[in-house]
Amino acid sequence: MKKISRREALRIAALAGGSILLPVGLQNRGSAQSVNEQVKPFTLAFRTPPVLSPVRSDSTTDYYQISIQKAQVEILPGLKTEVWGYDSIFPGPTIKQRKNRQSIVRFINKLDSHTLVHLHGMASLPQYDGYAEDKIPTEHYKDYTYPNTNAATLWYHDHTVGKTSLNIYMGLAGMYIVQDDDELNLPLPKGNYDIPVIIQDKQFASDGSLIFNNQTQIRLMGDVITVNGVPWPRMEVANRKYRFRVLNASISRSYKLGLNTGDDLTVIGTDAGLMSAPVNTKDMRIATGERYELIIDFSKYPIGTQVVLQNLGLPNNDNFSNTDKIMRFDVVRSETDDSLIPSTLRNIDFIPESSAVRTRDFTVARNSSGMWVINGKGWDQNRVDANPQLEDVEIWTFRNNTNRSFHPMHVHLIDAQILDRNSQSPFAYERGLKDVFYVGENETVRVIGKFRPHTGKYMYHCHNIVHEDHDMMGQFQVGEGGIDPLSSPAQPLPAPAF
Ligand code: C2O
Ligand code: CU
Ligand code: CU
Repeated sequence: MKKISRREALRIAALAGGSILLPVGLQNRGSAQSVNEQVKPFTLAFRTPPVLSPVRSDSTTDYYQISIQKAQVEILPGLKTEVWGYDSIFPGPTIKQRKNRQSIVRFINKLDSHTLVHLHGMASLPQYDGYAEDKIPTEHYKDYTYPNTNAATLWYHDHTVGKTSLNIYMGLAGMYIVQDDDELNLPLPKGNYDIPVIIQDKQFASDGSLIFNNQTQIRLMGDVITVNGVPWPRMEVANRKYRFRVLNASISRSYKLGLNTGDDLTVIGTDAGLMSAPVNTKDMRIATGERYELIIDFSKYPIGTQVVLQNLGLPNNDNFSNTDKIMRFDVVRSETDDSLIPSTLRNIDFIPESSAVRTRDFTVARNSSGMWVINGKGWDQNRVDANPQLEDVEIWTFRNNTNRSFHPMHVHLIDAQILDRNSQSPFAYERGLKDVFYVGENETVRVIGKFRPHTGKYMYHCHNIVHEDHDMMGQFQVGEGGIDPLSSPAQPLPAPAF
């Protein structure tokens, strides 16, 4: 709830490399540079990232290419901001794929620092999972193979050890959607009514440049909320149902979503795909890394109604004057709506607790030297914290024994389910397949999952990326052996044609 003072901001800016540029939102409110005068919420048009076309396709595979480079883009009207973008845009292009077709995505690093790519939510082989040490140096490329075994909303982002927060903050994040026939055959809103909503908070200096301030190593939160790269956009909608694929791609901020009308959000999907049945809720939390698919039904509103998607606020987030708002929907036209929300979306085999062969305990905390640790330990590529056998079902308990922070814990490779939180049922909207689990203040969250489909080493970590970088990350090993995550290193350019 704490707002940083001007004095503190100056000190932080100085620490951040001698720059004395103040965050726009922290400047004298009378100044023409104040973000409140530069960008009034709900004045900029909503847009969605472009969908990437494959370079080539054959009977089994679509081949994509993305070049990672610096670009100057206009985020604040009239100012240029340097971003590090997938294909020079922020967020990156959306990749859309059909279940069980293979994607091979070539990422070409044209930055002057290294990066690497993780496709969050994909059960990739270890060498394609974006292992934090498997770097793509400058002027190198790497081809990542993705099997697309589940229909879900995923996202690709940087995962470089110790540098992930900087790299994602500078723009290295994009959405990746896998669809299957079962989902496409449901009468849900589709096509132009199926919309990505990628939420990121940012802090800008008065010249438009991004301020990256992780000096406290606790969290990095901006005063400008962007959706698909646009500050507080305004979207014109018809009076019908829309499906929104909401991704929180912020570095640290969590949001409590709710509509200003007090009407329900209808949750139809979680991180790893559709829920078994829709869940109505007036509000819901979403932490970094989490995805929720929502239906908002605008048919009840007269033309001319403005519906605000709000951030109702959560503990241990920094509040600024407009961080309680995300975007606005203006109902501007009437259309017939043939979409429906079926009462059954799909069958999910929930794993019974009795099938777990063991339980592991992970306490997440800050140690006395200020590092974020799991069971007292930080990242060490030579240490393995857990060794489930292939197909074993395990219960992982994440414990946060303080009220000073929350930790969205992410486990690579598997889709799992929350059994309980502080011995109570999880929120109704969390009862789907997930890969990020909100471990709030003084919360103990138990998660059950089956370790499959690959053997090998995979990471698990906090998705507050400042925590992840400093040093709240470990790895587990499924079964024995498995492919070495470093066995398919990046290659120097030029890349041969696909
Ligand atoms: Cu979204 Cu290991 O990351
Ligand atoms: Cu991941
Ligand atoms: Cu954390």
